[in-house]
Amino acid sequence: MPKQVNGQKEDSIIQNDLSESFEEEVRAFLSDEEKLHLFDDLTKVNPVTMTTVLKCLQARYTVNLFYTNAGCSLVALNPFQPISCLYSPELMREYHVAVRPQDLKPHIFAVAEQTYRNVQSQIDPINQSIIVSGESGAGKTWTSRCLMKFYASVAASVTSPKDNETVERIEKRVLDSNPVMEAFGNACTLRNNNSSRFGKYIQLQLDRFHHLSSASIQTFLLEKTRVAYQAPNERNFHIFYQITKGATAEERLEWNLPEGADYRWLPNSERNLDEDCFEVTRDAMFHLGIDRSTQNNIFKVLSGLLHLGNIQFSNPLDESQPCELEDKIKDFVKITGDLLKIPVEELLESLRIRTITAGKQQQVFKKPCSRAECETRRDCLAKVIYAKLFEWLVSVINESIYADTSAWTSFIGLLDVYGFEAFPENNLEQLCINYANEKLQQHFVAHYLKAQQEEYAAEGLQWSFINYQDNQNCLDLIEGNPLSIFSLLNEECRLNRSSNPDLFQTRIEKALSDNQCLSRDKFSKKPNFIISHYAGEVCYQLEAMVEKNKDPIPPELIHVLQNSKDPLLQKLFPVTETNQNNVRTQNRAAVITVVSKFKGSLENLMQILNSTKPHYIRCIKPNADCKALTFKREEVLSQLQACGIVEAVTISAAGFPIRISFESFTERYEILRRSRGYNKNSVCGKSNYHTAKKKEISTAEKQIVSRMERYRDHQVPALGMQNTHAALP
Ligand SMILES: Nc1ncnc2c1ncn2[C@@H]1O[C@H](COP(=O)(O)OP(=O)(O)OP(=O)(O)O)[C@@H](O)[C@H]1O
Ligand SMILES: [Mg+2]
Repeated sequence: MPKQVNGQKEDSIIQNDLSESFEEEVRAFLSDEEKLHLFDDLTKVNPVTMTTVLKCLQARYTVNLFYTNAGCSLVALNPFQPISCLYSPELMREYHVAVRPQDLKPHIFAVAEQTYRNVQSQIDPINQSIIVSGESGAGKTWTSRCLMKFYASVAASVTSPKDNETVERIEKRVLDSNPVMEAFGNACTLRNNNSSRFGKYIQLQLDRFHHLSSASIQTFLLEKTRVAYQAPNERNFHIFYQITKGATAEERLEWNLPEGADYRWLPNSERNLDEDCFEVTRDAMFHLGIDRSTQNNIFKVLSGLLHLGNIQFSNPLDESQPCELEDKIKDFVKITGDLLKIPVEELLESLRIRTITAGKQQQVFKKPCSRAECETRRDCLAKVIYAKLFEWLVSVINESIYADTSAWTSFIGLLDVYGFEAFPENNLEQLCINYANEKLQQHFVAHYLKAQQEEYAAEGLQWSFINYQDNQNCLDLIEGNPLSIFSLLNEECRLNRSSNPDLFQTRIEKALSDNQCLSRDKFSKKPNFIISHYAGEVCYQLEAMVEKNKDPIPPELIHVLQNSKDPLLQKLFPVTETNQNNVRTQNRAAVITVVSKFKGSLENLMQILNSTKPHYIRCIKPNADCKALTFKREEVLSQLQACGIVEAVTISAAGFPIRISFESFTERYEILRRSRGYNKNSVCGKSNYHTAKKKEISTAEKQIVSRMERYRDHQVPALGMQNTHAALP
């Protein structure tokens, strides 16, 4: 029918008009360079596109504005150089006393203060969490530290001097947990000189007067392999450099650390970093209640690990004999044994001989290990000691900052968690990290959609939300029941058969082929699988993945550690009845895999987060070289994508992309009302726009504004007025 054809034609003309006018709007927006840095909320950039958003961020970065709101998140760009007064106590106060901190410049202190006020308001949910995310070197730990300082300052008690003393001690302890955790858990990597090799959630607990009363720390997935393996140009954990550089002459003698000695597990020690300061760590440990003698014990054990790393094995002439050791190496064995208080012979046996129990009579056989097996055992010994030591330190810190639940009524949780990772080669570690990010992304999208809907509802807007695609599919693939990558990995461990990566690849594909988030790199010779994460595709290598999930500890090693005369090792490896009586039982019971442990702790974390009001700080690394004040658009864009900001902005654009103040709106379109008279069907009638209670209007559809603009263009000359193409505010 001609009418229909005309209608279609008109529609396509309008469509063309619209896209042209949209591009024009983008151009017009970008041409006003002077104003770009003034947009302190990315969702209010008009029109919202990735180009306009990026340009605004760049313009702000250039004028030292590092923080920008993005709806309910804060984008934090790393300046990579200290910026004077950006975190001063005066600025903390300014945000703390402001009537409306959200009206001040976007800042982590605005988020912190808002969070604090939410607690004070006692409106459910009272407890709050701040989720700090971003890739390595983006500034998560820096941000978390600043937030902790903020609360230590604004939530400090101002009561009687005696109480004050106690509370100050708590604040100091809470802040002192940072250098200790960083000394033992951070390392210099290719991407960050002070890279956290674990995830951390700290709960700052407040009493009924909203003063800091205590805290608790939960950690995730320490990268313990770093103790025994450091990638080229990377370093071991900071603490090893601190002890070798900062020990006194007396300590050097006691810990057997002569100046200038070489340790295989201490690469790149010629590099001096700010993080190498031993004194800071020692003082902080002392304030946390770790006395000098316990500290001495810890450092002695760490020195033992450095010597352990120098032990190398040679193939024996006769294969039925244990691996051999050169004379020089025997010295390292002796020093290690002395420092760990383990008899040298026992230490050597645990590293070189495997005990096998077989047959109906449970006969015990001893079999020499191959050179490679000895090396694996040596590394495993170091890893298990270090991981236990780290765990113990966290528990000591927790004891030191702990208060009974009756002493606090609410909390603010800070999550400093590793961001999404995709390297050329990815394995179980990346799978766990990216799984955690999928979980957090799901939480973010759910929360963001909810926040947007609440905002629209509060403004009395009619709005049916777009059906947003969430990442449940991907999560089902990773952790779902009964079949998922995690369940298959765990099954491999349970069956305890020697793992064959090729067969495992087939098993995964067969079992999970229905899930569209799963694929494979068919051009790769190595067995692998690809997961389509919300932040992009990641290819995981299957080689050694099952073994990593098992993370086996030879029982002989545990046994030798339990027999150590060292007080610290005795604490870390207590003798329990089960493991004393039956090493085999203990070995079987130890099938709690890495992924099940990680999944458990993450589920626990998600439960806590779900019970709180979340706030998001997305840290962005503006260039990969950590160069001061350098903004690389491509790199920023990919991170905005990976942390869900692009999605947040997209959701915002799909909702009410244009937000014009009520005053500007009436001023601009009053002419239409005058020319056409008020008519409920007219484009500027009430049915076509939404009036917000707070005197702001949000237009439901971009088309309406475009049409109104066209009518206006038409009306202005018709009424003999001069047209101004001034952009809408
Ligand atoms: N706001 C800031 N002002 C100045 N420098 C900063 C700021 N934020 C971060 N930096 C610099 O960037 C470095 C890396 O930051 P940080 O260690 O917090 O990164 P991260 O996100 O925790 O990385 P990782 O995941 O590797 O632990 C810091 O050591 C510091 O030099
Ligand atoms: Mg960090």
